[in-house]
Amino acid sequence: MTSRWTNEAAIRQWNTSATRESMEAMAENGDFAKRNLVNPALLRLLGDVHGRRVLDAGCGNGYFSRILAGRGAQVVGVEPTDNMCAFARERETELGQGVTYVQADLTRMPDLGEPFDAVVCSMVLMAIPDWKPAMRACVAALRPGGLLVFALVHPAFEELWGSWREHGEYRVRRYLEEYEVVGLAASDFHRPISAYFNELASLGCRLREVAEPGLDPAVAAEMEPTTPGIDGYVHLPNFLIVSAEAPA
Ligand SMILES: C[S@@+](CC[C@H](N)C(=O)[O-])C[C@H]1O[C@@H](n2cnc3c(N)ncnc32)[C@H](O)[C@@H]1O
Repeated sequence: MTSRWTNEAAIRQWNTSATRESMEAMAENGDFAKRNLVNPALLRLLGDVHGRRVLDAGCGNGYFSRILAGRGAQVVGVEPTDNMCAFARERETELGQGVTYVQADLTRMPDLGEPFDAVVCSMVLMAIPDWKPAMRACVAALRPGGLLVFALVHPAFEELWGSWREHGEYRVRRYLEEYEVVGLAASDFHRPISAYFNELASLGCRLREVAEPGLDPAVAAEMEPTTPGIDGYVHLPNFLIVSAEAPA
């Protein structure tokens, strides 16, 4: 059940979980899954960002904004939590990459000026209880034909690691329902894949590519002794990464 959740309550939970230690640990390239699975797919689907105006929607500690700025993009990061937004701004003061951080809820997007060539929204839509206005705001921020790239924990394999470790396969019981997925940092909200693709279609977007990256078997073999169950990431995709064009 997701009905007891408001977007404000979800943001408060993210703010509480964003400790200095956790933000420092993931400040460069994100966590293991981001480094090995999500970042390469996002960057490939975004293509050459040099000189492009890019919005990092729900940017968290800002690590991906910094990666994009390092590749020559003009980046605006939007993040609603006090802690992560302050951390991202602090890093910007140190690095001077020219990234602008705006503290805002995507479902109440402020005016961000000129339209964007691309919007990246990584691991955010499934963190928002009432998420459709957020996807709508991402598409509205684009220039005609601009590119939306979003990453989700794959709705068909959300609890992959735990399930694989316990059963040696993936088990799912309630795919078609909407429900809260309690996470280590904060809750996500399960909804079927069709919810995301149908919303994209209703916004007039044209699907360009869907990526379901698998883990390199050599990386999994190295980690298996200390991280039992990681082998599941080789066989099933824990992340769904989508690129689509805004209406022309
Ligand atoms: C899993 S984190 C991902 C952060 C970042 N994109 C990354 O990949 O590291 C989820 C992010 O969604 C943000 N978030 C939650 N609700 C939001 C909302 N309504 N508008 C914008 N961001 C939101 C959280 O504050 C958090 O930074």
